[in-house]
Amino acid sequence: MAGLLARLIGGDLATLAHDPLGEFCRRSRQGAVVPLAIGFHRGHLVSDPALIRHVLLDNIANYDKRTPAFDAVRVVLGNGLLTSGGGFWRRQRRIAQPAFHGESVKRFGPIISRMAAECAANWEAAARQGDTVDACTDMMKVTLRAVAETLFGDDLAASADEINRVFPTILACLAARVSSPVRPPLWLPTANNRRLRPAVDALDAIVRRLIAARRQRLASNEADEGQRDLLTTLMAARDEETGESMSDAQLRDEVMTMMIAGHETTANALSWLWVLLDRHPGELERLRAELVTATGGQPPTVDDIGRLPRLKAVIQETLRLYPPVWMFDRRALGPDDLAGTRVAKGDLVIFCPYALHRLPQLWSDPEAFRPERFEPGREEQKNKFAYLPFSAGPRICLGASFAMIESQIIVGTILARLRPRLADPTPVEPQPKVTLRTSRPVVLRLEPAPLA
Ligand code: HEM
Repeated sequence: MAGLLARLIGGDLATLAHDPLGEFCRRSRQGAVVPLAIGFHRGHLVSDPALIRHVLLDNIANYDKRTPAFDAVRVVLGNGLLTSGGGFWRRQRRIAQPAFHGESVKRFGPIISRMAAECAANWEAAARQGDTVDACTDMMKVTLRAVAETLFGDDLAASADEINRVFPTILACLAARVSSPVRPPLWLPTANNRRLRPAVDALDAIVRRLIAARRQRLASNEADEGQRDLLTTLMAARDEETGESMSDAQLRDEVMTMMIAGHETTANALSWLWVLLDRHPGELERLRAELVTATGGQPPTVDDIGRLPRLKAVIQETLRLYPPVWMFDRRALGPDDLAGTRVAKGDLVIFCPYALHRLPQLWSDPEAFRPERFEPGREEQKNKFAYLPFSAGPRICLGASFAMIESQIIVGTILARLRPRLADPTPVEPQPKVTLRTSRPVVLRLEPAPLA
């Protein structure tokens, strides 16, 4: 009876709940478009790059993000870039985009380097005392600080402890909302809402205070060039077409979006990277050798990362095997045809990067860790709709360059000083939550090994 009820409420959710990654992989191998019901919604799992391109690019106007999964996170993110749609999204994206161009992101290099150096110093201290470190927790801290300081600069210092306190609660409650077939509004006093609400209120208050203080400083011309962080950039940005800037409410939603979209994703990718380097110690040494050639063994700055192609390839390969956004979806606004499958208005179209990145027709020996796939000019990476860690098309991740630069600096800084190895040899499995987590903490034993 319980099984039948779950099936009625959750569609294929019940079957998927047991082994979602395995099930997605099996179904994606069954065909380019495979039926998949989510709750009361008819869904289609799409695993063919040409059809993915059709939905994410060519016929993008027929799809929006009013899906159960995006509705679940909207209670916290509001109408920010990740969750909004239509003309509103286009305008917000136009305003925010310049702050995330490769060259603009480079301005944030020194902040990211400082965060990375602090993490490496803490890990060195742990190594000297023979202590282990929890990479998942530390990567979460360093990526949250990186995104928060690039957004708010020094203004954040006073609230850093509060942010570190409320964020894990927000992420845990959002994960529970996304995986539940029932998503009551935030004002209903369910157990999950009773935890989520005060955490969101606390973060809201911090963000609103920071926005108000920054507006005041900008008005009185107190903010100097050093203060030109992301928040100032977003406040100063004008829509190229209309000349409009963002309201406080929009800024709040964008700030929340960037803090949430911008840190757990990168942190999970980096946790997986330490696991993969432990499985491939030769690769770890190769990365250290590349650092010696590129920087003389010094931690890389943002100007050095162009000379670290192998490190970039290792990060790309990590994102292939363990894409933090392991699944995402769209809702059809009207009928469509996907290679003979009829999509009706209201249907969900589902993409699973985890399964797509493991399809044998797209990737040779897909389960193998082979960073050389991402060497320039290689066939395997030519179809950008076969590799979706950051999605593709107009709604591609706004922070993709930020995440790549950030990851290269953090990993390079740590490898220039240490050899991290897993302290516990039991296998680490992927755990699909809102993002793709590790099944257990990635506890590292660190060997001090300064390159310079
Ligand atoms: C490894 C790290 C990251 C991964 C794997 C990742 C992945 C993604 C994916 C797959 C999407 C598209 C979701 C969809 O269309 O349904 C997305 C969107 C987005 N990401 Fe990221 N992301 C990462 C880091 C970041 C960072 C560092 C930031 C900001 C500082 C960021 C900000 C955003 C924003 C604002 C969007 C919405 C873009 C739009 O729809 O216009 N992300 N991300």
